[in-house]
Amino acid sequence: MPQPLDLPQGFRWGVSTAAYQIEGAVDEDGRGPSIWDTFAARPGAVRDGHTGAVACDHYHRYPEDVALMQGLGLDGYRFSIAWPRIRPTGAGPANPAGLDFYDRLVDGLLEAGITPLPTLFHWDLPQALEDGGGWLARDTAYRFAEYTALVADRLGDRVPAWITLNEPFVHMVYGYAMGIHAPGRALMLDALPAAHHQLLGHGLAAAVLRERGLDVMIANNLTPVRPASSSEADQAAATAYDALHNRLFTDPILLGHYPDLSAFGVGPDLGGSVRDGDLKLIAATPLDGLGVNYYNPTRIATPTDPGLPFAEAPIEGVPRTAFDWPVVPDGLRELLTGLRDRYGAALPPVTITENGCSVADEPGPDGTVSDPDRIAYLAGHLDALAAAVAEGVDVRGYFTWSLLDNFEWAEGYHQRFGLVHVDFETQRRTPKASYAWYRDLIRAHRALQER
Ligand code: FCB
Repeated sequence: MPQPLDLPQGFRWGVSTAAYQIEGAVDEDGRGPSIWDTFAARPGAVRDGHTGAVACDHYHRYPEDVALMQGLGLDGYRFSIAWPRIRPTGAGPANPAGLDFYDRLVDGLLEAGITPLPTLFHWDLPQALEDGGGWLARDTAYRFAEYTALVADRLGDRVPAWITLNEPFVHMVYGYAMGIHAPGRALMLDALPAAHHQLLGHGLAAAVLRERGLDVMIANNLTPVRPASSSEADQAAATAYDALHNRLFTDPILLGHYPDLSAFGVGPDLGGSVRDGDLKLIAATPLDGLGVNYYNPTRIATPTDPGLPFAEAPIEGVPRTAFDWPVVPDGLRELLTGLRDRYGAALPPVTITENGCSVADEPGPDGTVSDPDRIAYLAGHLDALAAAVAEGVDVRGYFTWSLLDNFEWAEGYHQRFGLVHVDFETQRRTPKASYAWYRDLIRAHRALQER
């Protein structure tokens, strides 16, 4: 039996997913194409040519998936809404069938006693908006706010809190700077307007939500940055990387200004994209909660590529996931206490909106899936979370990534992050050992709090 942790009263337990990674049904009920449909169809873009066309078929099997969540005893479910289901061409009125799907999902969750926590943008931009420049175009931020209004007007009576963007850093770097993710642009530092326009979109959407009395969050991918040595050069490189990865997407929202990016040769106008009043708007709606997606720390050394002021250095001597990501649970404590030290009173309550690991899980001869590495990963990170709470950080919930094995972007179906194994041939769901472990942990924690 997992031991309950010392966590604040009312701490919320959840799981996270994203639309393109689980839904499938990409051509159904009027959904328009997204940049991920286009990108995945490009030869060589995704490992083994996998696409999200079927994924976990969650669009049709969501009642089974909600029942799996109910079996875990969750408080909350973080999922994303597919923008191209709601506005297939990026503009114009809402597609009623698209809204109906999320309406059914929300009602199903509420009946199961689970609070829905939707993310409005988890990387599946309508292709029509990409054709107009995607997030490099300022206009996309305004289309995002309109889409937010359409969704909030339909679901806001039952959904109290909303996440605007998922990991704008990863979307900018992988999607626009390096071309590893959709839309597959490799612009390097010329991708920076995609940061500003996403943040502008956040600010505009946050105002739309707040006008309707709804709570606003963002889910940022954050990493504690460790210099490879105590040399001045390595420390300067780490400071530069920290500004790009962490501060660029959090400072403007919490502090109302961009960090110093001069190490990148970039001025405060982010490549000419920042206009008067933008930063005020981005910070105007205080966050009700900061969503933190944490996977691992980053070790940074002096540059090897003359175009960048840093180089990533390997973290040695720790276990690694199937994705080859280093496992450093204490990095979560370091990250959380670091956020508190950096932002002080400007830091809203934190919720861990993603944390988990990929393991090459397959059912054994008896049909069960044993995943001790995932249990160890989750237990270690929850200990680190509890340590941060003990050090005074206000953490309100933990949503693990992910409920189901799913379409892991450029890796296709090769990285399994689920508490539930999915056989992608048959769509059979098999709860893994970690599912039972998480369920028991939630139960133990609830029993302790109800005493
Ligand atoms: C995060 C993404 C999420 C998932 C995990 C493994 O960066 O937000 O969709 O792919 O990584």
